[in-house]
Amino acid sequence: MMNDKLTIDPWGSAQSTDYSKIIEQFGLSSLDNLVIPNPSRLQRRGIIFAHRELDTILEASRKGDPFGVLTGLMPSGKMHLGHSMVIDQVKWFQEAGGDVTIAVADLESNATRGVSLEEGRRIAKQEYVAYYAALGLNPENTTVYFQSERNIVQKLGFQLGKRTNLSELEAIYGFDGSTNLAHVQAPLVQAGDILHPQLDEYGGLRPIVVPVGVDQDPHLRLTRGLASKTNWFNVTQAKMGLQIGVSIQEDNRKVMGIEPNGRVNKDVRKNIFSQVVQSISSLGFSDIISNPKHGTVNIPSATLRDKGSIKMALLRLERSMGGLGLLSPSSTYHRFAVGMTGDKMSSSKPKTTLFLSDNSETAEKKIKKSFSGGQATIEEHRRLGGDPDKDVAFQYMMYFFEEDDAFLAELNQSYRSGKILAGEMKQMCIDRACEWLSNLSELKDQTSHLVDNFFQ
Ligand code: TRP
Repeated sequence: MMNDKLTIDPWGSAQSTDYSKIIEQFGLSSLDNLVIPNPSRLQRRGIIFAHRELDTILEASRKGDPFGVLTGLMPSGKMHLGHSMVIDQVKWFQEAGGDVTIAVADLESNATRGVSLEEGRRIAKQEYVAYYAALGLNPENTTVYFQSERNIVQKLGFQLGKRTNLSELEAIYGFDGSTNLAHVQAPLVQAGDILHPQLDEYGGLRPIVVPVGVDQDPHLRLTRGLASKTNWFNVTQAKMGLQIGVSIQEDNRKVMGIEPNGRVNKDVRKNIFSQVVQSISSLGFSDIISNPKHGTVNIPSATLRDKGSIKMALLRLERSMGGLGLLSPSSTYHRFAVGMTGDKMSSSKPKTTLFLSDNSETAEKKIKKSFSGGQATIEEHRRLGGDPDKDVAFQYMMYFFEEDDAFLAELNQSYRSGKILAGEMKQMCIDRACEWLSNLSELKDQTSHLVDNFFQ
């Protein structure tokens, strides 16, 4: 049924909060089924609620293998609480052993929001990266770059553009004939952002995880599709075990032994297949059945758990043969904290959020006026209880300011039962928020000398 289908518009102002529907429709995996060592506050509280192939990243971290984290920021307006959530996650992956790359989407911001490149640069540095340092991101293994300055990102975007078309973009983003072409280009550049850290000049082949708000998932769907379309070898489940197939494409026909007249050169083909077998021979399978004529290699004893390591070996082989060898990115998705007015949080509407630069007075005012989950009168509140799921003060303690899970659970319970009043909840949130903000502002001063290191 067409009408039941959600589309996610990354540039739109509407936001779906039907998270289970999003998981189902877009094929995300729920985070509930994954055991995460030392889960972060956002993971423990279900705020990060879904992922794609996060297992690959956790496995790399567990083994001490290299992996990367990539995310991006749109330089427009000031950094607010919502933006800090991504940095929390980046920090968590950094502490788990990941190297960090952050894209400043100055091209996207210029094209879709009219922010000049110079202004984008200033905003990124003063409004965002200054707070990244204050929030504890380590500049030692973090690189922040500008889309407009990394040619490879644009080049990759251009190359990948060959693997998609307007119909696919229409299906993913809901575009139509009146769509501005900047909105067609931006996702391709973003695909370049996401995939380029795997290139040899930027750290080489390794899994990359992209922590984002769920509004960015269309870009990940597109990017994952593009990456897999470039792959020269694919791994699928067979009746018995796993099967490797070959993908003949315009740019690998010659290497794969297709002659100009369309015939297959048997010697070349044989050689390719022996290289495939060779590339996975060290993985310890008892039986590898190569069938160059069919164009397949079968590994009867391989299970889905082996898919990742086989894939990596084949991507390495592809690179040695001249291909891009791109691994599909992993991703995690977080829920959005409700805006303070009850609507969506937005940097262009200061009343909907706390900016990281807000002082105590401003924070107090905004929280006092914030949307409450309390009842109209005290008498009713005591009798019926409040709704912590709608109460901004409670929600912000949960998302941002309160570390202690047990205390938070107690607050939730007491609010629901009417023991804690809406005003009391707000006061608690004000106290925590003011402490958090003034602490952050001190840290910002203390870490300001680090800001330039993020750009090197
Ligand atoms: N489009 C993102 C936004 O609107 C910014 C961005 C650009 C990004 N490149 C990225 C996010 C790569 C994640 C990964 O905020």
